[in-house]
Amino acid sequence: MPSVPPIFRFATCNPGWESGLKAEMRARHGEAVTPAFLRPGLVTWKVREGEKLELGGPLPVFAHVSGTSLGMAKTLEEVSEIAGRCEATPDRIHVFPRVLPENGFTAEEWESLDARSGEIAAVLRESGLNVDFSPPRHGDPVLDVILGEEGEALFVGWHRHDRFRFPSPGGMPRAILPDDAPSRAWLKMEQGLHYAGLGDPGSLAGKTALELGCAPGGGSFSLLTHGAKVLGVDTGEMDGRVLAFDDGKDAAFSHFAISAGELRIEDLPRRIDLLASDMNLAPPVALRYIERLQRRVRARTLLLTLKINDAKMQAQIPDFLERVRKLTPGEVIATQLPSNRKEITIVSLPERR
Ligand SMILES: C[S@@+](CC[C@H](N)C(=O)[O-])C[C@H]1O[C@@H](n2cnc3c(N)ncnc32)[C@H](O)[C@@H]1O
Repeated sequence: MPSVPPIFRFATCNPGWESGLKAEMRARHGEAVTPAFLRPGLVTWKVREGEKLELGGPLPVFAHVSGTSLGMAKTLEEVSEIAGRCEATPDRIHVFPRVLPENGFTAEEWESLDARSGEIAAVLRESGLNVDFSPPRHGDPVLDVILGEEGEALFVGWHRHDRFRFPSPGGMPRAILPDDAPSRAWLKMEQGLHYAGLGDPGSLAGKTALELGCAPGGGSFSLLTHGAKVLGVDTGEMDGRVLAFDDGKDAAFSHFAISAGELRIEDLPRRIDLLASDMNLAPPVALRYIERLQRRVRARTLLLTLKINDAKMQAQIPDFLERVRKLTPGEVIATQLPSNRKEITIVSLPERR
């Protein structure tokens, strides 16, 4: 009998979080998968013969992308050859580095990544595989080409897009951290908004956002530039540009210079559309504040950063998600954004992508 070639799955993550990702895969699939290849930001698993792994649905929290591994390519011609092994014909291509920078790409880095993607796509097209860069729709097969260090072979895999997956290559939103952002949290908020499908410039026009843990104000600045009226809660000092923000329309910032526990519901407007939290507190404590407020304000969109400082908190992530699920009828998903350090981002919104 001819032997069936083994199937390998892959997933990408923030460098340093590979063991967290492996623990999630073990919890989901048990003995059906065995870790095979590991480099910073990329893990593969061999699938036990005869096992059919369900690949749709929410990704592991620590995964940016996950799919089926096709092989390693030393040349672009080999990428074409390997892409031919894909059981579906990919019509989209995602090219991205194995290690995504936590401060995002600069404009120059995006440019050179785009050039590299164009080069790879051109070779694939010459070999008859008609791939393009438009955002994938539900069900589209996407070819993933992962770039390593200088001289490292290219990793080739594929996945099928669905609404749980971020549509950008590598799960990396196209946001560039400005040199003068009030804080790095600007990038976290931008990436979180993109992840939630709210990355467009006017996505929050006419909406009101409440941010717990807002100082010095990168996150609030991002919300403001998307058009939101922002109420920020933090005893810390705010950046002057956040306090003075005026877009000539409704977007403006109000500061509650108190802790979240002191915030009185009656001081809030009747309608809060988005509740964000970025408090540097242990998640069980942060969630208590979030629960108290959300039970009253019932924001339709939640965008919560939770600190995951140790293995104990990591093990409790499923419980944290359950607590958030009880707070909203919307769908709750979580990820570790490329800009998240020891933290994860939980998003809930009723009409996600
Ligand atoms: C990571 S920083 C927030 C960064 C901020 N989101 C930004 O965009 O610049 C964490 C913040 O949580 C605030 N914080 C901690 N405990 C808090 C509480 N109980 N209520 C409100 N803010 C709190 C801290 O004062 C600190 O400014």
